[in-house]
Amino acid sequence: MKKRLLFLGPPGAGKGTQAQKLAGEHGLLHLSTGDLLRAEVSAGTALGQEAEAVMARGELVSDALVLAIVRGRLEQQQTAGGGGWLLDGFPRNVSQADALAALLEELNQQIELVVLMELDDAVLIQRLLGRGRADDNETVIRNRLQVYRDQTAPLISYYRAAGLLQSVEADGSVEAIAARIEALLA
Ligand code: AP5
Repeated sequence: MKKRLLFLGPPGAGKGTQAQKLAGEHGLLHLSTGDLLRAEVSAGTALGQEAEAVMARGELVSDALVLAIVRGRLEQQQTAGGGGWLLDGFPRNVSQADALAALLEELNQQIELVVLMELDDAVLIQRLLGRGRADDNETVIRNRLQVYRDQTAPLISYYRAAGLLQSVEADGSVEAIAARIEALLA
């Protein structure tokens, strides 16, 4: 089974929902940069204070800050004996993807699969408005979608060119989508 995975897709596609489920079922480390940043904000750390306003606008926080978080977690996991991981919400632009490639080379690890979750904007927006997280109001959601198109969507061709990308329709029930993803892992 493939066990070094990356989830890509617009806000609200269900990356976090599916990543948590899959990681739980297969004993993978679920590394969500959004969750880790929100934890820093809640704890009121210096890092959280730096990230809070940027996240509230739906912009990307600095590459250096996010990379430090990801490096720490992946190094920690390798020291603890390694294992699979699922990156959710990272990388978010080409420079983060290049930095991840360099980090994985250092760790002698490789991405085995990139899952692109695809869904219409209208459904994404409805899902996010229904959730009501601090950054889930219509203005910020539209900005997050624009940031996704401008900065994150170029990773689709980046990982397709590397032969790692597989797409999944992200509509339907959580279970139905999970089954589509599971089918790609064999
Ligand atoms: P992040 O937390 O990564 O947010 P996001 O990409 O906008 O993703 P979401 O959490 O909104 O959506 P999701 O695809 O995970 O869907 P979910 O499963 O939650 O990032 C937040 C911010 O942090 C960024 O804007 C940025 O500022 C910063 N950040 C994070 N990573 C960064 C990075 N690498 N670099 C720089 N900045 C970074 O589901 C959404 C909703 O839909 C939920 O309510 C869920 O219950 C529901 N749902 C899920 N599946 C279904 C389904 N099948 N049917 C119906 N409802 C469903």
